[in-house]
Amino acid sequence: MLYARAVNRSIRLSPSLLSANAATLGADAAAALAAGGDRLHYDVMDGRFVPNITFGMPVLAHLRSALGPTAYLDAHLMIVEPERYVEAFAKAGANHISVHVEASPHLHRTIQLIRACGAHVGVAINPATPLQSLYEVLDSIDTVLMMTVNPGFGGQQYIPQSTAKIRTLRAYIDANGLSTQIQVDGGIALDTIATVAAAGVDDVVVGSAFFRADGDLQRSTAALQARLDA
Ligand code: DX5
Ligand code: ZN
Repeated sequence: MLYARAVNRSIRLSPSLLSANAATLGADAAAALAAGGDRLHYDVMDGRFVPNITFGMPVLAHLRSALGPTAYLDAHLMIVEPERYVEAFAKAGANHISVHVEASPHLHRTIQLIRACGAHVGVAINPATPLQSLYEVLDSIDTVLMMTVNPGFGGQQYIPQSTAKIRTLRAYIDANGLSTQIQVDGGIALDTIATVAAAGVDDVVVGSAFFRADGDLQRSTAALQARLDA
């Protein structure tokens, strides 16, 4: 587990499998956990909500079989009408399911559906969407997945305005005595991880800055940790 001393808050590391090698996905996923990844982030894209297409339920089910029951699988659904697929992702083995507020007009109902399927509940929010769109449901979800890039691709630059948005959400959660966690996703790398940690996040999704070209994932974790400790 990554730890940010500066803010005395432990930070979870969620390696994003989008940046793993799809041809060796199971091995890469196991290596990410062995290297200190707490949760595996699984990006589902449909070519409609976002302009890219990735993987779906069958691949997740294979990962579940390959990794065993203790691996924590976190599905980030970047798809239209996500409620149509919640049950299938839960059955495939997702421990945590995030849907986008922009894709779910009946968000409260979708949250209830995820809970009924036995998964932890996340709601994702795009950079241009105001935080107020989440306030009515914050007390009934586990995680806000704050996008710090426009979703669709790995390897993009962190959007600097995100830092103020994280601080605002952290303050709102604390002021209201909520236990909702803040996960950030997009452009989290050596140059941004300390900033988001200080702003008050609980979980960092790291894709391209984690799955390095040389495959040394222990070194990725150590380098990210060093930035938190600095
Ligand atoms: C982007 C995805 C992210 C992506 C992050 O739409 O939601 O999870 O994998 O990749 P990096 O860390 O490279 O920005
Ligand atoms: Zn994601």
